[in-house]
Amino acid sequence: MRLSRILISQVRCFNSTNTYLKISTNNLKTKNKGVSSNHWLSRQLSDPYVEKAKLMNYRCRSAFKLLEIDEKHHILKPGFIVIDCGASPGSWTQIAVKKVNADGSDNNSVKGKVISIDRQLLYPIEGAIILGNTDFTEASSQDKVAKELGGAKVDCVLSDMAPNATGIPDLDHENIIKLCYSVLKFALKHSNVGGSVLVKLWQCGDTKQLISDMEKFYRSVKSIKPKSSRSDSAEIFLLGREFKGLKVT
Ligand SMILES: C[S@@+](CC[C@H](N)C(=O)[O-])C[C@H]1O[C@@H](n2cnc3c(N)ncnc32)[C@H](O)[C@@H]1O
Repeated sequence: MRLSRILISQVRCFNSTNTYLKISTNNLKTKNKGVSSNHWLSRQLSDPYVEKAKLMNYRCRSAFKLLEIDEKHHILKPGFIVIDCGASPGSWTQIAVKKVNADGSDNNSVKGKVISIDRQLLYPIEGAIILGNTDFTEASSQDKVAKELGGAKVDCVLSDMAPNATGIPDLDHENIIKLCYSVLKFALKHSNVGGSVLVKLWQCGDTKQLISDMEKFYRSVKSIKPKSSRSDSAEIFLLGREFKGLKVT
């Protein structure tokens, strides 16, 4: 039961030629003939970003959201230490590894570090430290991340985490906001002064409060809707830049 849920959500993110999990449209058709599934499938097949992800060997179309955000805001630089929360199947990690040179493939740049965490299985990505089957919201998981950091401070905390949708909007919003606060708290504790945090959420009544809380700790907070984010989705990203640091009293 658990495994089938995991597979379905990974299938929704993986592109169809991914080497880690091949899917065929036949499988999907026979598994679920529901209207929403057919809608998802036809949307997937006509989505230019799905095709582009395939061509560029990204594990998922979400890659383009981070690429777009980074192109404009330059949050990932060689040598940076990055935490990628909700990283599975791994396209953000693929990008972060290259941008911060975590795999050391660019001899002329300083080497960075990427620690990727997801409560689902996460297949290895060269250059990244992978913590799969790990729920980020649990204290023990954050301790594991801290241990990997070995006392170093983080330059950028990314979160594309999304809870399983219940279909009850208020509950879904509450759940994603909880994830955002968990990321924010972690970022406050472990970030370098000047660092940044990027969180995904579904726009809701609590968005304003979250922005105002982020503004207490970051010099600038921007709400971003990348072009590659589906227009019919309430998904937005909040980018907090230039962490002010915590006053120790
Ligand atoms: C949209 S996907 C992320 C896609 C990813 N950014 C990429 O580019 O491949 C959202 C992920 O958040 C993860 N997630 C949700 N809640 C989580 C939690 N509490 N701890 C860790 N991961 C979580 C899910 O398992 C899922 O893999």
